[in-house]
Amino acid sequence: MSHDAMNPHLQSSADPSRSSEEIREDFLQFFRAKGHEVVPSASLVPDGDGTLLFTNAGMNQFKDVFLGSGQRPYSRAVDTQKCLRVSGKHNDLEEVGHDTYHHTFFEMLGNWSFGDYFKAEAIRWAWELLVERWGLSPERLYATVHEGDDDFGLSADAEAYDLWCSETPLPEERVLYEPSKENFWMMGDTGPCGPCSELHVDLRPPEARQETPGRELVNADHPQVMELWNLVFIQYNAQPDGSLEPLDDQHVDTGMGFERMVAVLQGEESTYDTDLFAPLLQAMADLSPREEIRGYDDLHIEDDDERERVRIALRVVADHIRAIAFAISDGVMPSNEGRGYVIRRILRRAVRYGYQTLELDEPFLHRLVDPLIEKMGGQFDGLVEQQEFIEQAIRSEEESFLETLGTGIEFFERVVPHVTSFQNTDGEGTDHLLGELREDPRAMDLLEKAYVDTDDENDILRGFARTARSGTLPGQIAFLLHDTYGFPVDLTRLMARERGLDVDMEGYETLMDRQQERARAASDFAVDQSNVHAWQPVSEGKASVFVGYDQEAVPDAEVRAVRVVESDDAQQYEVELSRTPFYAEAGGQVGDTGTLRFGDEQVRVLDTQRASERIAHTVDALPEHLDGPVEAVVDAERRNHIRAHHTATHLMHAVLRETLGDHVQQKGSLVAPDRLRFDFSHFDAVEEDTLRHIERRVNTAIQQNISKQEARDMPIDEALDRGATALFDEQYGDRVRVITFDPDFSMELCGGTHVDATGEIGLFRFVSEGSVASGVRRVEAVAGAAALEHVASELDTLSRARRQFRSLHTSLPEAIAEVQEERDRLEKEVDQLRRGQLSDQLETFIAENATAVDQVTVVTGRLDRASMDDLQELGQQFRDKLGEGTVGVLGSVGEDGEKAYVVATVADDLLDEGEVRAGDLVGTLGDRLGGGGGGRPSLASAGGRDPEALDSVLDDVPALVRDRLE
Ligand code: ALA
Repeated sequence: MSHDAMNPHLQSSADPSRSSEEIREDFLQFFRAKGHEVVPSASLVPDGDGTLLFTNAGMNQFKDVFLGSGQRPYSRAVDTQKCLRVSGKHNDLEEVGHDTYHHTFFEMLGNWSFGDYFKAEAIRWAWELLVERWGLSPERLYATVHEGDDDFGLSADAEAYDLWCSETPLPEERVLYEPSKENFWMMGDTGPCGPCSELHVDLRPPEARQETPGRELVNADHPQVMELWNLVFIQYNAQPDGSLEPLDDQHVDTGMGFERMVAVLQGEESTYDTDLFAPLLQAMADLSPREEIRGYDDLHIEDDDERERVRIALRVVADHIRAIAFAISDGVMPSNEGRGYVIRRILRRAVRYGYQTLELDEPFLHRLVDPLIEKMGGQFDGLVEQQEFIEQAIRSEEESFLETLGTGIEFFERVVPHVTSFQNTDGEGTDHLLGELREDPRAMDLLEKAYVDTDDENDILRGFARTARSGTLPGQIAFLLHDTYGFPVDLTRLMARERGLDVDMEGYETLMDRQQERARAASDFAVDQSNVHAWQPVSEGKASVFVGYDQEAVPDAEVRAVRVVESDDAQQYEVELSRTPFYAEAGGQVGDTGTLRFGDEQVRVLDTQRASERIAHTVDALPEHLDGPVEAVVDAERRNHIRAHHTATHLMHAVLRETLGDHVQQKGSLVAPDRLRFDFSHFDAVEEDTLRHIERRVNTAIQQNISKQEARDMPIDEALDRGATALFDEQYGDRVRVITFDPDFSMELCGGTHVDATGEIGLFRFVSEGSVASGVRRVEAVAGAAALEHVASELDTLSRARRQFRSLHTSLPEAIAEVQEERDRLEKEVDQLRRGQLSDQLETFIAENATAVDQVTVVTGRLDRASMDDLQELGQQFRDKLGEGTVGVLGSVGEDGEKAYVVATVADDLLDEGEVRAGDLVGTLGDRLGGGGGGRPSLASAGGRDPEALDSVLDDVPALVRDRLE
């Protein structure tokens, strides 16, 4: 389809050859020229903000500035921010693919004023960029302003209204008042917020615009009348109780949907028609084995519905691969909880669409990473460097999901024939169908898993039969396929329809509702703040100045503020000081503990945490008077242990990269006084030998006693130029602290506390190595005193072991080998004894349970707790002992008491006569035990689910043999 045909609106300014890169750069330069600092995008994982799962707006990284607790060296900023709206207050996941302009991952272009310019400039510049620079037709633009809100006690934003009319040529009828739902912006339930003004564009052709004025379609979800840019005038901090607390300063926070803007400027109707998505869509068309899919706009498909289905699938995958790859580059691996779970679901959604519609049944998503990074790698850090890792992570997730998808299909195929056989029966004479189902253990397993409400096999069978009779696949099965095997229910329906069956959608929906209820309860991410009271100011002046890099005690700090923190069992307080040596937990390093002395009174500091920009010392009591000078003293010994572990972490990180490769990225870290834990990206287990090698290298660096070089305030660009290791998912300021132990060995951006020279660490030992998630390994190690402690306790274990082996003179490995040999010998002996005993028992059976049936002797016996394997082995012995003219049957109820087994033997001379065969005999016996069996004519076995029947089955053996003989 030609673009012009789909594009009735063509802006006079539209220019398909203007690339997204140019547009992005244009935005940044426009505001740079107006004194804005160009800053990098923050990570998709918000830094230390428990109220937010993923970064969902450009302003997230500036939240602290708006609230007055943080500062930046600039008062105007501009950037493009990676955003993900897949959870919480802003969630677009379900829309994606079905329309042409929603996305999970998108870029938000924004300009900010921190207490600097306000509404007039924001409005004037927005107009200048859109109309004067980018050439959008002014008559297609609408502005909205906040109409006021009684609940908030806010009147209409007449100021913004007037500014639109005075600063821009917009006529009054194109400036609209809108309610809070549209024009009061909040990041979440709490935090910075304010009334906003939005710019909307009407892209409809002239006739349509004549017919219905655009103002009636603003905020009406019309695909061609859409919001382009949101200008928020941040003035309040929303409180947990819903009230608005005015901020000291007024700020500007704007957000422009980059993908939409690119579409408009390129004269495209949909974001998917822009150069941002073209390489991804083309790569998918190339990968799909469906001949008729040659490109997103080149589909040779007659059927309208099918064509749309394919387009939706292409859009879903093109959108989702961006979310997945960017999330992984920011350190979120697909997993079963939290952020990782959201990414896993998005990935599975993409794979399913590819599988179902594009016929991509081999892993394909990872192959879209290359075109994606080709397009975006220049703008965002962390993609190019981690490309291989991102591909591998996606690939392994795809592989395991496709496998479950395959297993799901296998299960589906297993159960469907049973539904079909019940179809159109009226319930009479279906016992044999139930029997068949009962004897199909794989189908029964599946049903047991699917019918979660009952354990009773008969209930399950009855329920299944009832639904199946009307040719309907039970909702329980559809739900299991969805929940465990990732089948979208429409795939299950499609497959069912191909076999002439329906799916019980009502049953399915009920189970879905129940699950969603559970998920909602589990994923409630909002932090419960109701038990944290407001900070109470105590004194004025500079606050929370950290001096702990140089001092472990401050003799004369002042209390700046306190607040009460209630937990279930205790009341605690947090204290903010003017100056403090206490390190607040950050970058994996735990918070300091110590003492605050108020004259004669002293209180213990139990922990130190950051609370926005404050350093909060947790104490469980407050002194009577807070207004005197405070002596703040850190627990020095504990701090020393922490320093040793932090430096050891850096040395180990350097050696890990040196040994395993540059793909090793820190994914998580804990630095405590007694141990360190370090998660890093790497796919395979680290072998014992490699671990020992790394350990030796770290210890060598310790022995070299390398001095620390500390740069407290280095421009970030310089640090990165020098090769300092930075974390991709960490947010850094413009000036950073760099810790170096030999510039050729270890140089990291880090805020933590370290030893002065590596020799202080003394010793380093690994304690464990394992996996935490696909593609992420975890090591635990100890350093310094904790390492000595660890070695001492290992040696202690060793000598205790020696003592136990009484082998102070033989080496331990030798002693263990001896014990193992001894054990093998004893095991053999026990085995022989056991078999001897069982054989003896067999003798007794033969003596006690022999019945004559004509010329034939029938011997039966019961030997409980023997497994099927045991029985088969004993069967052979039994047969040998019985000798000519004899038929033997041994039975057992298995260890778990839920299954019964039998083995039957027939002597050679009888076989020659041909009437009695073991295989045939166990067929009947197995049937009566509620199962089945088979084997050779001389020896055969059977099992079933009805142990109760075993005795009567054995009793009837002589009669059965008689039947055969007759
Ligand atoms: N923070 C505003 C938004 O996300 C600009 O729409």
